[in-house]
Formats: sequence, C-alpha cells, structure tokens
Amino acid sequence: MKKAKIAIIGGTGFENLLEKARQIRLGTPYGIPPPLHIGKICGKNVIFLPRHDPDHSVPPHRINYRANIYALYTLGVQRILATNAVGAINLNFKPSDIVVPHDFVDLTKHRSATFYDEPPVTHIDVSQPYCPEIRKLLIETAKKLGFHVWDKAVIVCTEGPRYETPAEIKMFRRLGCDVVGMTGIPESVLARELEMCYTSICYVSNMAAGMQKRLTALDVSKFSKSVVPKIEQILIETIRILPSERNCPCVNALKDARFE
Ligand code: HPA
Repeated sequence: MKKAKIAIIGGTGFENLLEKARQIRLGTPYGIPPPLHIGKICGKNVIFLPRHDPDHSVPPHRINYRANIYALYTLGVQRILATNAVGAINLNFKPSDIVVPHDFVDLTKHRSATFYDEPPVTHIDVSQPYCPEIRKLLIETAKKLGFHVWDKAVIVCTEGPRYETPAEIKMFRRLGCDVVGMTGIPESVLARELEMCYTSICYVSNMAAGMQKRLTALDVSKFSKSVVPKIEQILIETIRILPSERNCPCVNALKDARFE
C-alpha cells in the first residue's frame, strides 16, 4: 500500500489540494476510518482524512478518533496538520480569523481518548500539546503570505453536538480559553501517544454563544467558506517547506512515559 509521512485532517473539500489523488480504504483494530485520499502536495506524498466522512454525516462526538489516527499511523504518517472550525471566545477575535492554538482544555466526556487502556500504563507528556516545529512553520508561513494569525490561543474542546450556553462561554473566558471547538480532542492526544506530530490551524467561523443573537450551523458554514482558501494556501506552503527530518519532542513522546 502507498505510504505518506504527512497528513491533513479536516472538513471535506481539502482533498482537492492533492494532485493525482487516489482513495484508500482500510480497517484498523479500532474500526474503519472514513475513505482516505492519498496524493501529492509540492511533490510530497500527503494523505487527507475527512474527519466527518465525505458527506459530513458523522457528528464530532461520534468520530472514531482512534481508528482515524491509527489508520494514519499504519500508513507511515509522522506529521498531522489538522484544521478546525472554532467559535471565538476572546473578545479580540472575530469571524474569519486564523488561529494556531498553543494549548487546550479538554471538556469532552464520552470519547475513547487513549490507545493505552491495557498495560503498560502510559502517561504521555502534554506540556507542549502541539508540535512546536510545525506550529512555528504554520505561523511564519501565514505571516509570509500576508495573513493575520493569532499565534497563541487556548482552545477548549466541548463534547457537543450542541453549541454552548452563554454561561458556559463566560466561564471558559474566565478560565483563559480563547476559542471553542468540538473536534480537536482526543485527536491531538492520540497522535502524541503514537509519537506523531500534531498541530491545529483553526479558523473562527462565529463568535461563541452569547456574543451574538443566535448561533446557527448555517452561519458557521458561511464564514468557513471565506477563510478556507487561506488555510489551504498556508497548508500547501508549510508542507513545501517542512524539513524531511523531525526536530521536535514529539518523536520521543513514549520515552519516560512508562514506569518500567
Ligand atoms: N462551539 C463549538 N464548536 C464550534 C463552534 C462553536 O461556537 N463554532 C465552530 N465549531
């Protein structure tokens, strides 16, 4: 089977970034991921994984995150560039803004969030939750392309699928959260557990609940359409300049993660 060291995870549409794309279907011990696309970006093999399935039929809380990450792992992926639509909590952020988070708060409730339910007991370090090497490149690339980017932000991941209440958003703001989404966790953690690099580039699709009259899924999708082409440009250029060897702590995430 064809392999790739880089993957993009996102909503549908990003498969158009790949040249000479082919579809791959595979199973994992955790279940079946959505159809994957493998093709080239700037001469490098890249896999695209549409997290909600190609027809956007899988809600955030039902995504099989373990199957998705494990499938990428078995195909040789070492680096994941994820995209996420988010609501803005920080009063300085606005719809269509681009955000590269540096930290997260996990408020998910019912998701399988580890590959290590069995011994050996494994506690990975998330002091730097996102790959520092790819984060830096994403931010530099966005700036080089002339786009404004928020280069530090805390993302809170909620269980969904409902949006938040105004009181919840007020609480998250007091806790220091800048944006809210439903899909970043446990994706990032599972990647770290397999020593894969993971970063997220988010786009603000709406002001969070209570900061506008009403929050509709339609508005969220409208703003996404205007900013996604910018995200695509950033992804392409970042992939072009990614060095072939990894120079980050993600490579050794399992070293010292076990007691024995
Ligand atoms: N809340 C949660 N998830 C989201 C939002 C939001 O406001 N916007 C896009 N994804």
